[in-house]
Order: sequence, then structure tokens, then C-alpha cells
Amino acid sequence: MKNTRKEPKDTNEIATPRTTGDAPAEFQRFGSVVRLPIGLDQKACEASVDALNQVLADTITLRDLYKKHHWQVSGATFLQLHELYDKHYAAQQELVDQIAERIQLLGGVSVAMAQDVAERTQIERPPMGREPVPNQISRLLTAHEQLLRTCHESAGDAGKNGDDGTNDLLVSDVIRTNEFQVWFLSQHLVPTPVTEPEEAMAGAERR
Ligand SMILES: [Fe+2]
Repeated sequence: MKNTRKEPKDTNEIATPRTTGDAPAEFQRFGSVVRLPIGLDQKACEASVDALNQVLADTITLRDLYKKHHWQVSGATFLQLHELYDKHYAAQQELVDQIAERIQLLGGVSVAMAQDVAERTQIERPPMGREPVPNQISRLLTAHEQLLRTCHESAGDAGKNGDDGTNDLLVSDVIRTNEFQVWFLSQHLVPTPVTEPEEAMAGAERR
């Protein structure tokens, strides 16, 4: 039988990694939503993808704000806050992955890179320098509240559109995690005296 197999002109051509190629630069445009068989209307998927990309940009920003504070914290509560900030960072990182993957499974494209996140986030840009602890905590609480307001609105919309999965992710994971972190942080701003309890009690009685 005649061998019809086409031999490459240069065998090394096959072994050479294709660092650039003929494939288009993108095969799905950001902002587009392709159809997957998940029992949801196209309109519902588009609305959820749009809302989740906002939540994702804000969650990535909040996550990075925690790492900034983890590195730059100072003062008597250094170790406690250094560790707490990193714990919250890790929980936000979990959420980032869950939100991004839900966007993809809805047929969308998740926002990913820092430049794109910076353009979309609603969280205020912090200064590059170090801030004192009360400012760090206030800044985090403001960011959490901004994010929570967006999540409540988006969860309600997803529920109305029949997108139960997005509603569940926002309510059970994103909202619950953020509320919990707000509680932990906000208790640091209650002016409970660490020393001189008698003086503090006397002050409380005078009030
Ligand atoms: Fe660290």
C-alpha cells in the first residue's frame, strides 16, 4: 500500500513550541455571554455576568487591600492584626475564585487583570503609603459596606431572574463572609480600655 502520509518539510517544525500562531488573539470577547445548557435564559445569564464582574472587581480590590494592610500594619496590635488581615485575605481569595468561575460557567468572561480591575472597582483607591490602624480598619469597613450593598442588590436581581446559583453564591458565600469580617473588624474600633480598668469603670459610672 502506498504511504500517503504527508511528511513535514522540516521535522523540527513539529517539535517547535508555537509561541505565536494563527489563532485569533481572543476567541471570546469580554462582555459577551455564550450559551451553556444550564437551564437559564440568556438574559438572566447576561445580567448575572455583568453583576458578578462588578462584585469580582470589588472583591479582588478588597482582597488586595487586606494584603496591603497585612504588610504595612504597625503598633501594639501588630501581630494580632497582621494575622487577622491575612486570614481575611485568604477568605476573600476563596471568594474571588468562586465568583470568577461562576462568571465562566454562566458563559461570560471574568475580569482578571489588575489594570482592568482598577478601571471597574467602586472601592476607593487607598494611598500608597502606610496608614495608622484606625484608618486601615475604617477603610476596610467602608469597602466591605460598598461591596455588601452591591451584593444585596445583585442577589435580589439574580433571584428575580431565576438564577438561583448566583443568588446562593452571593447570599451564602459573599454576603455571609463579608458580614462576618465586618463584625471582626468593627470590634477593634470599640474604645474598650486595655489597661487601667478602675479608671474606666469610674468613667462609666459618672456617665
Ligand atoms: Fe505574610
